[in-house]
Amino acid sequence: MSGTRGIMVITGATGLLGRALCGVFARDGWHVRALCRDAGAKFNHPGVSVHACDLPERIDAGAFAGARVVIHAAYSMRSTSRAADEQVNLRGSRRVLELAREAGVHRFVFVSTTSAHPRAQGFYGQSKYMLEQELDPSRDLIVRPGLILDSKAGLFVRMLKTVRSTGLAPMFGGGRQVIQTVHIDDLTAAFARAIEMDLTGTLVVCEHRGLEMRDLFREMGRRLGRPVRIVPLPFAPVLLMLRAAEALGLRLPVSSENLLGLRSLERVDSRLSLERLGLQVRDAGQSLNDLLSTETKRDEATR
Ligand SMILES: NC(=O)c1ccc[n+]([C@@H]2O[C@H](COP(=O)([O-])OP(=O)(O)OC[C@H]3O[C@@H](n4cnc5c(N)ncnc54)[C@H](OP(=O)(O)O)[C@@H]3O)[C@@H](O)[C@H]2O)c1
Repeated sequence: MSGTRGIMVITGATGLLGRALCGVFARDGWHVRALCRDAGAKFNHPGVSVHACDLPERIDAGAFAGARVVIHAAYSMRSTSRAADEQVNLRGSRRVLELAREAGVHRFVFVSTTSAHPRAQGFYGQSKYMLEQELDPSRDLIVRPGLILDSKAGLFVRMLKTVRSTGLAPMFGGGRQVIQTVHIDDLTAAFARAIEMDLTGTLVVCEHRGLEMRDLFREMGRRLGRPVRIVPLPFAPVLLMLRAAEALGLRLPVSSENLLGLRSLERVDSRLSLERLGLQVRDAGQSLNDLLSTETKRDEATR
C-alpha cells in the first residue's frame, strides 16, 4: 500500500540511482516525493509524486514537509565549469540539508562515493568528502557506493558501449587501478536495509576485493564475445584534451573528473559495513553475468 511507511524525499530522482531508489521504496510502501529538474518526469508507480528541484536554489521546500527520510542523490557530474559545479553540488547540497533540518526530517541520507577521501584529486571526490564532514554521524547516514553496475545508464554503460563497438580499452597506468563495483540491485537493497535498521554513520557499499580496471574491461569483452585490446594512454595530455573539450561544451564518453577519480582511486574496506547491514553483494564477475544475460534476453526479445 502506497505511503504506509511514511514520506521519503529523493533528490536526483531521474538519475540512475535515484530512479531505482524511487521504485524500490515506493514498492516497499513509502510515499516517495521525487525531486526532479524535469517537471514532466514519469515514474511507473502511483506512490511516487514529482516535485521541482533545480539546485542550488529552485527547490520545492513544501516537498520536505512531514518527510521522515531524505535521500540526497542529486549530483551534477558534467558541468562546464568549476564554479557551476560548486553552485550545484556544494551550495545545492547544503540547501537540501538545510531544508531537511528545517522540516525536522528524522534521517538525512547523503549519497557519497568510495572516491571521497582526503587525497582525492578531482572535484568530485573532494566535494563529496567535504560535504561528508559537514554531516552529523550520530543523526545522518552517509552511503559510499563503489562503481554502480547497471545495464540501463551510467559510466558502466558507456564503458560497455566502447568495448562493444571498438573492442578497445583506453587505459592509464596500464589499467592497474583497483576498482570496486556494486550491482544496482545490491546497492538499493543496502539502502532499504539501512533505512529499515535506522542506521547512521558511514556505510561503504561495494564488493570487498575489487579487480584491476584492465580485468574489468577484459571480463566485459569476454562476456560480449569481443576480445579487448588495452590501449595505453598518457595521463597529462589526455587530461588537457578533455578539459579543453569540456570548456567548449563538448560531451565525451569520459570526463576529466572520471580521469582524476581514476588516478586517485584507493581500495576501501567494505566488510564492516556489509556486516552491519547483514548483506552480501555480488562481485564484478557475478554482476556482469547477471546484467549481460538480462541484456541479451532483452535484445533477443526485441529482434
Ligand atoms: N554511478 C555511479 O557509479 C556512482 C558511484 C558512486 C556514487 N554515485 C553517486 O550516486 C548519486 C547518483 O548518481 P547517478 O549515477 O544516479 O547519477 P546520474 O544518473 O547522473 O543522476 C544524477 C541526478 O542528479 C540530478 N541533477 C543534476 N544536476 C542537478 C541540478 N542542478 N539540480 C537538481 N538535480 C540535478 C540529475 O537530474 P537530470 O536528470 O535532470 O540531469 C539526475 O537526476 C550521485 O550522488 C553520485 O555521486 C554514483
